[in-house]
Amino acid sequence: MTTAAAQKVSSESAITVIPQAGYIGAEIAGVDLSAELSDAVVAEIRQALLTWKVVFFRDQTIGHAEQIAFARRFGKVTPAHPYEENPPAGFPEILPIDSRRYGVQYGRKRTSYDSSWHTDVTALVNPPAFSILRADILPTHGGDTAWTNLVAAYENLPETVRAFADTLDAEHTFESRAAQGSARAETIARKPLRTFHPVVRVHPETGERALYVSPGFTRAARTIRGLGPRLSAHVLDALWEEATRAEYTVRFRWQPGSVAFWDNRATAHLAIPDAGHLDQDRVLYRVTIEGDVPRGVDGRLSESVEGDPFYGS
Ligand SMILES: [Fe+2]
Repeated sequence: MTTAAAQKVSSESAITVIPQAGYIGAEIAGVDLSAELSDAVVAEIRQALLTWKVVFFRDQTIGHAEQIAFARRFGKVTPAHPYEENPPAGFPEILPIDSRRYGVQYGRKRTSYDSSWHTDVTALVNPPAFSILRADILPTHGGDTAWTNLVAAYENLPETVRAFADTLDAEHTFESRAAQGSARAETIARKPLRTFHPVVRVHPETGERALYVSPGFTRAARTIRGLGPRLSAHVLDALWEEATRAEYTVRFRWQPGSVAFWDNRATAHLAIPDAGHLDQDRVLYRVTIEGDVPRGVDGRLSESVEGDPFYGS
């Protein structure tokens, strides 16, 4: 699939980058993720990722080992998730996003563990820099994922609002949505994660500023430091609305063998909850790459309140 917008990164480049939406998202063609990639191809993928925030690969035939090996080309690979206790045997880095588990964990059928806009695990003081998600089993229809460009959301704010947002810190917590009394709920209660992050973070590679809030991890505390509960709620509502405006988003239709690779430092995403009622399975596998501690525009760092940093290897 080639469009007029498809770009060769350079005349010698092996890959083709095909933009998918006005602000975010590109398909990368011409890469076999099961192969040993050259440093040049890895650099081109990284550059496309920094530019488009999420990139998509189609028709890949890789398993857990190849997915982890690919991720390692971009940084240290973390364990599956701070609360994952049953990763696939032999692959502690793999987080199954598996509808077959959620009936037990949440007491009802659902197609993803979280169906709100979020950036992965921002309750951590050093949330993952990147996530790589591979589709295996999919419903016949529905179950798409959307991503939003948090840099575009920030840059299109009026200057006075940007200057105000630059000064704010919001509380991110891991809110348990697991069924009460379940093993997962107990695990989360035993090891709480709570961090204040700058509402605007400076990207460590591009220098871009991103509006670093989304409902997933900020709605439970609903707290901006120093604003009080009422004003915090109003300001967060306004910022969430800006961060998730449809024009900043791209929506991806999964097929078996599809892979999405996104930059958590510049995006939030949403597993669109439109397939739970279909009663079909949806199974994807995620790996995450270690991230740094976010910095605000004045250089201040995020502050951990509860929980340890999450390191990879
Ligand atoms: Fe996620």
